Amino acid sequence: MDRAVKKAKKLIGEITPPPDKSISHRAIMFASIAKGVSRIKNFLWAKDPLSSLNAMRLLGVEIKVTDSEIMVHGKGLHSLSEPENVIDCGNSGTTIRLLSGILAGQSFLSILTGDDSLRQRPMKRIIEPLRLMGADIRGRAEDRFPPVVIKGGNLKGINYKMPVASAQVKSAILLAGIYAEGETSVTEPHKSRDHTERMLKTMGVDLIVKENTVKIIPPADKLSSFDIAIPNDFSSAAFFIGGACIVPASEILIKNVCLNETRTGFIEVLKTMGATIEILNIREQAGEPVGDILVKTATELKATTVKGEIIPRLIDEFPILCVVATQAEGTTLIRDAKDLRAKESDRIKAMTTELRKMGVPVKEFEDGVEIKGPCGLKSAEVYSYNDHRIAMALSIAGLIAEGETVIKDSDCVDISFPHFYNLLERLQR
Ligand code: S3P
Repeated sequence: MDRAVKKAKKLIGEITPPPDKSISHRAIMFASIAKGVSRIKNFLWAKDPLSSLNAMRLLGVEIKVTDSEIMVHGKGLHSLSEPENVIDCGNSGTTIRLLSGILAGQSFLSILTGDDSLRQRPMKRIIEPLRLMGADIRGRAEDRFPPVVIKGGNLKGINYKMPVASAQVKSAILLAGIYAEGETSVTEPHKSRDHTERMLKTMGVDLIVKENTVKIIPPADKLSSFDIAIPNDFSSAAFFIGGACIVPASEILIKNVCLNETRTGFIEVLKTMGATIEILNIREQAGEPVGDILVKTATELKATTVKGEIIPRLIDEFPILCVVATQAEGTTLIRDAKDLRAKESDRIKAMTTELRKMGVPVKEFEDGVEIKGPCGLKSAEVYSYNDHRIAMALSIAGLIAEGETVIKDSDCVDISFPHFYNLLERLQR
């Protein structure tokens, strides 16, 4: 499906973005290996977390859905059952990578695959450490891509230094570490999102976090079940934060957003650029800081350089950051972000190509982009690459472009944000 977006006069109103995707995946998977019943409220009903939910059902976990919550009848650490079929992880890197960590601890055979995009995404990054721990695990094309075949069991702990910061890889190793004999530690070059660490701690796992290293001491017998109300997703909110910054005369209040600082690098960057953002009503929910975000149109945005430590803390916000950068005075430089080429699409190439179609001077680097602003955008027919975050970022770009912008294959927003276009329409004046 294609979607037409017209230039907006202003964005005004209050929104509740969808529940957090990363936490939804983890809640379903971790509850499945806990002992007893866990209750999950405000689960993200979107394609990606549903891949995790369906996978856990295939592994024999009973999951009941009511209007108000999901009840997961946890099997305990060692009672998942061998799936009768290949597990289809859809478009979801989080499903395939985290689940591989859990399955590395199971003595049965599993085969994991996904859609056209997922089958091109790198798996060696999890296969190598899980094999070092003792799992029999292989992937297509000399371990580079899915399908991934796993026969786990008899794991031993390792000390692993990751070449690239990645919460998915870190989580896979920590989950396998639960099943290993002896301690496992994992060190990242920079800190990535830490939802796994926070959730496993509440489930009674002994985790020690020191700078960029996480050490896990395997639990003796069980993980505790839990009740959780998932906060809303900062990465989905980010499209509206970016939109309100650049559409004139805008003011949006975004409610109940997870403000974990391993996720909110985008706000730090926008503030340096001169954005008008206020965080209100900070509190704690589900072991995470949560608050409301008030964003008004920025009177003046200036360019900035984004690289190094902050990159993993805004990795999913790269597409919308590029759009905001088109309106900043000067040259915005984003580097050290080569991993963006291995997301749901090659996001560096996607944003370079599509913003150029809209008249933006973008220079492409292997590990980032340079964008010169401020720039008047012209409407164009742009392509989503079937990547939800590219579709949403280009839709926001459409709000400031002259005329009507058409986003091709925009229905991929269903991966993380099924009501994106409803909310966008509601805010437009
Ligand atoms: C995620 C981690 C990040 C992020 C992805 C979700 C997670 O991926 O881009 O959208 O839930 O752990 P990497 O770990 O590959 O950086």
